Amino acid sequence: MSEVQTVEDPRVPVVVVDDLHVKYRVFASGKAAGGARSGLLNMTRGVREVHALKGVSFTAYENETIGVVGSNGSGKSTLMRALTGLTPPSGGAVYARSRPNLLGVGAALLPNLSGSRNIILGGLAMGFTRDEVDDLREDIAEFAELGDSLDLPMRTYSSGMQARLKFSIAAARSHDILIIDEALAVGDKGFRKRSEARIRELAGEAGTIFLVSHSMSSIRDTCDRTLWINKGVLQMDGPTDEVVTTYEASRQ
Ligand SMILES: Nc1ncnc2c1ncn2[C@@H]1O[C@H](COP(=O)(O)OP(=O)(O)OP(=O)(O)O)[C@@H](O)[C@H]1O
Ligand SMILES: [Mg+2]
Repeated sequence: MSEVQTVEDPRVPVVVVDDLHVKYRVFASGKAAGGARSGLLNMTRGVREVHALKGVSFTAYENETIGVVGSNGSGKSTLMRALTGLTPPSGGAVYARSRPNLLGVGAALLPNLSGSRNIILGGLAMGFTRDEVDDLREDIAEFAELGDSLDLPMRTYSSGMQARLKFSIAAARSHDILIIDEALAVGDKGFRKRSEARIRELAGEAGTIFLVSHSMSSIRDTCDRTLWINKGVLQMDGPTDEVVTTYEASRQ
């Protein structure tokens, strides 16, 4: 009797995206949406459907740092929001080992509170316990390198300073699945380099990280694998060098 051969894949799947479709319904303004003489609006005529993701499939494994590239409006952020469950699929499915954390504590931070108070608030919003926040406060403040500005209200911060604080809070602890969507874009070069190093460290701690960026150098320095999203379709999925080279060539 012949034995059934099973080929064991040693990699542990963390996120599985299966034929994912996302459609947005948007109300278009302008004449097309306008109503008849009755003065009432024709609400159905103005509805436009944007098919933002058209059947995307891939599997992400433990310890992978995955770059996500593509031109503006190609569907990268939509894909990331679908991974977290924020945007419901209109077809297909997303399976994840745990709920992915989207680096975007922004909504929870309060402009009138100081940076220090916001570290506590943002930490809690990222799912840290109060004890964890107390343990991590110093580290977060140190990584952010905002000095005395931490005592000032957040509304006085530049966008780069705010981004520093957000990244520092989110990167203080390892996450099972962390999504970073363009968060590094506004930081200065020094901070970006430190952030990239921190991302590599986090990925080493059994995490899976998605990094959406228009900075090909960040993607090359940080990610082993890259997804290229083009007009809602997964155009290419492979080793970063190959994908980025092809993507860049397509834009010439
Ligand atoms: N909330 C929304 N309602 C309606 N349409 C949306 C919404 N969010 C995104 N879209 C549309 O979906 C498509 C994909 O947008 P998405 O934000 O995912 O692109 P992106 O790749 O992240 O672009 P960028 O590089 O500019 O961040 C675009 O056509 C956009 O107009
Ligand atoms: Mg985006």
